[in-house]
Amino acid sequence: MQENQTKLQPIKVQGRLEELETLRLIRNECRFFMTRHTSEIQPEEQKWWWDHIKKEDYTVFLYYVDKVPVGYGLIRVENGVSWLTGGLREAYRGKGLGRQIFIHLITQCSNITEIWLQVRASVSIIRVCAC
Ligand SMILES: CC(C)(COP(=O)(O)OP(=O)(O)OC[C@H]1O[C@@H](n2cnc3c(N)ncnc32)[C@H](O)[C@@H]1OP(=O)(O)O)[C@@H](O)C(=O)NCCC(=O)NCCS
Repeated sequence: MQENQTKLQPIKVQGRLEELETLRLIRNECRFFMTRHTSEIQPEEQKWWWDHIKKEDYTVFLYYVDKVPVGYGLIRVENGVSWLTGGLREAYRGKGLGRQIFIHLITQCSNITEIWLQVRASVSIIRVCAC
């Protein structure tokens, strides 16, 4: 990261409604790039998802710039493999913040044996991780 670059502040999501709503809004702005579900998530679906995920397998972050939530990141552990996903609000893309998100997510993965980033064929974002 360059010295004068905007620094993201990660906050781990604890499940407060306000956090889930922020997560929902950012994720919906990224939805066309998602590999599994591209539909718009409604507030009740977001809450249902949070209530039903196995908390020990998921770690979710919101990322802030000057107290403004601009991105999210998620780690899902499945059979010892950490799956990463994340995204930024459109206005904050292309400024090096995506690289910060994925580097941060990677540093949060413990006992790393494998990390997978699932992307659409048209999004070769794996380069973000080439740090
Ligand atoms: C993907 C995303 C997080 C990247 O964040 P970003 O802030 O725009 O990316 P950065 O500015 O940090 O770019 C880092 C590197 O990735 C490259 N990059 C960024 N987006 C890219 C894309 N869609 N395809 C190919 N390369 C891309 C940049 O050119 C840069 O490479 P460089 O250092 O060689 O020049 C952001 O564009 C986004 O939220 N997109 C919608 C959601 C999404 O696609 N999420 C990924 C699915 S897991």
